[in-house]
Amino acid sequence: MATRQPDPGTYYDRIAERHVLPLWVDTKQFVPWEPSPLYAAALWKYDELRPLLIEAGEIVTPEEASRRVLVLQNPALSGFQGTTRSLYACLQLILPGEQAPDHRHTQSALRLVIEGEGAFTSVDGGRVKMVPGDFIITPSWAWHGHTHEGDTPMIWLDGLDNGLMAQLDTTFFEPGRPETSNCADPLVDAPAGFQNAEAPLDLPARLLRFPYDKARENLENFRKISDADPCQGYRMEYLNPVTGNAAMPTMTTGLMLLERGFGGQTYQCTDGLIFAVLEGAGETVIGEQKLAWKEHDVFVVPSWSPHFHNAATDSVLFCFSDRVVQQKLGVWREARGG
Ligand SMILES: [Fe+2]
Repeated sequence: MATRQPDPGTYYDRIAERHVLPLWVDTKQFVPWEPSPLYAAALWKYDELRPLLIEAGEIVTPEEASRRVLVLQNPALSGFQGTTRSLYACLQLILPGEQAPDHRHTQSALRLVIEGEGAFTSVDGGRVKMVPGDFIITPSWAWHGHTHEGDTPMIWLDGLDNGLMAQLDTTFFEPGRPETSNCADPLVDAPAGFQNAEAPLDLPARLLRFPYDKARENLENFRKISDADPCQGYRMEYLNPVTGNAAMPTMTTGLMLLERGFGGQTYQCTDGLIFAVLEGAGETVIGEQKLAWKEHDVFVVPSWSPHFHNAATDSVLFCFSDRVVQQKLGVWREARGG
């Protein structure tokens, strides 16, 4: 729009001195016509990261580090930590005999177990078993720590809503007190219900563990009774069985089964998607970029980016995003084809 600028230099200088910006000069910066994410599509190969994570085991202990974690930093984000703008994906290592001390924070966390056995995470004193493929929840402000009683390295993917909490300025953190730490306390077994993805009676809205064997069985049953979605294959979302809501308040979580030879149609949505490959191999094409993935790799599809998946073998992808937040705000969108 043409504007009259009788004294552009002095006018803009004078309002800038008062910390005021003219909306009309760059309207699209204030209100873009469609999402224009500041982060990029990216892939982290587990084959490359695993040795580096193991090396971190020689550099720092969980006591020194609080958590021995490598953040999957989006290459396009500068001056801001995160895998997307709202979420973190990280890889955490705990070695046999180690304990990561209790702490709590307002960020909610998910764990997706990648490899190892014999470790457990404690959530508010309840001991939660960790088996590869399991999806485990640490709710906001719950005390939590990790202990490894097995014989081989234990690695899992952490997903946290750090960026969202940072943008809302709602971050609090508290280190564990010695008397509540899992180093000092014998841990109680979680109620049996945890093992079956049923709600424990005393914590009806805080379901903590979704075992992978049961989720995988559900995916196979889904495949038997339904056709695949042309964009997303067989997609299932983790829900809290008591409330029927998303399993976590700030992160939508789910699994996608893509059958061998699947060639997906184009899909886009306003939530940036973080995928962790649980099984199989394939590729995801995002515009000009082709991300070739296999077991345990992690990749990101930015907000509103048209993309499609091709599967070379039967593949299972865990996916998490801030979709549930966008849906609560009434702003989430998706589109197919194109
Ligand atoms: Fe934590």
